[in-house]
Amino acid sequence: MKKKRVGVLISGRGSNMLALINAARNSDYPAEIAFVLSNKADAAGIETASKLGIATQVIDHRKFSSREEFDAAINAAFQAHKLDLIACAGFMRIMTPVLISPWKGRMINIHPSLLPLYKGLHTHERAIADGQKDAGCTVHFVTAELDDGPIIAQVRVPILPGDTPETLAARVLIEEHKLYPEALRRVALKN
Ligand code: GRF
Repeated sequence: MKKKRVGVLISGRGSNMLALINAARNSDYPAEIAFVLSNKADAAGIETASKLGIATQVIDHRKFSSREEFDAAINAAFQAHKLDLIACAGFMRIMTPVLISPWKGRMINIHPSLLPLYKGLHTHERAIADGQKDAGCTVHFVTAELDDGPIIAQVRVPILPGDTPETLAARVLIEEHKLYPEALRRVALKN
């Protein structure tokens, strides 16, 4: 089996990135994490990935005068690494079609809510404030609309009495780390 070459886009901690790296170490897993790109030089995930011997790059969005120019630079880096698939994992920039279109059907994202509910930021805070009984996380294909696009996999997580956004985020994150490798596996097998 030839493993699909995956690029991961991050902005911070990179715990989902690490979950993908760990899953991909398995010889049966149909993908390898070949490249990690961050828009932030101080993203902890960049250090984690480079310590593990994975090619990394930082492209600082503040050095570009438009979103499109920034996105074109990211896409060029992805093309240079000859990637098959892209996994966004806590990438905190809005992407334009300049980046999204070339990867149509080959770029996925993880979002900490039961999409289509709670797109955007502060998902757990909003779910608790609304009195929801469940939260969760979703892996979906990236399209031009933020946190939209066909759903690949989703898991429900109960909201418990006394939950704060932090306690709920921690419970959801445990599930994210299982869901994302499973979703990427499915996408890699189909592409
Ligand atoms: C995760 O909750 C993910 O769902 C969201 O941003 C967070 C990133 O965390 N998109 P990490 O960087 O993967 O630890």
